[in-house]
Amino acid sequence: MLVLRHHRGSPPASTPLVQKIRQRIFVVTRVSREAQHDGLVFFHAREVSSFCPMDTTPAFPTLRIVSHPLVQHKLSLLRARATPTKIFKELVDEIATLIAYEATSELQLESAPVETPLERTKGMRVSGKKLTLVPILRAGLGMVEGVARLVPSARVGHIGLYRDHDTLEPVDYYFKVPGDASERDFFLLDPMLATGGSAAAAVSSLKRAGATRIRFLCLVAAPEGVRRLADAHPDVIVYCASLDRELNAQGYILPGLGDAGDRLFGTR
Ligand code: PRP
Ligand code: URA
Repeated sequence: MLVLRHHRGSPPASTPLVQKIRQRIFVVTRVSREAQHDGLVFFHAREVSSFCPMDTTPAFPTLRIVSHPLVQHKLSLLRARATPTKIFKELVDEIATLIAYEATSELQLESAPVETPLERTKGMRVSGKKLTLVPILRAGLGMVEGVARLVPSARVGHIGLYRDHDTLEPVDYYFKVPGDASERDFFLLDPMLATGGSAAAAVSSLKRAGATRIRFLCLVAAPEGVRRLADAHPDVIVYCASLDRELNAQGYILPGLGDAGDRLFGTR
């Protein structure tokens, strides 16, 4: 990991690099090596997270792309037409866990002293509001266990929505979340963010129920969907494994992975 310090001012050639680095926040805990190169001083330092950082892009300020190699490897297997239902299900579950690792990285901690077998020491626990997972039916169900593996005490709500085949607009048929929504953090789960209609409608339903802190976890996002969700709910951060190219005329994500619900439940 590289942290850049200006040395005798910064030469014009460094501008793109400086801009790229500014998109990420680094915390230098220990400087181990220093090397001089091209009028700039580079420090090799340790990043706070043990995972690769998430990619952000100025065009989509609410989007966080989890660029970890395992996520990208598994996503390619998931996309493959030849991947059978059983493996598809396992991959959705595993990628959901890895994305949840990143999406939980901003949860607040508070001190919680702990007795080891030898002595009392300082410890930490996640503070504040209880976490609630809310899959958007059907395909969001495939992500629940993978996220719950990291936060087993999370409650699970459900939002039933399907996309009308002609209008591509969401039609809602079910809503159930814990009663104390205003006191909770919500992770809304759906593998696909396509036009963004389903996600925006689900967030609106959660907010009507009192939710104020909502993150959206998906696997594949289309630019159109990220924009629509950000326009409707700029406070909702979206975590995904990939920002794909575009939607086709039928509202499917390209290159995408096909119909996530059908591939998860073998209904095609
Ligand atoms: C899929 C997907 C999302 C929605 C995304 O569900 O799981 O919920 O489409 O599309 P959008 O961003 O354009 O709204 P679908 O409507 O196919 O229902 P299903 O999960 O029951 O198959
Ligand atoms: N829903 C899916 O399951 N896949 C897409 O590509 C778009 C919406």
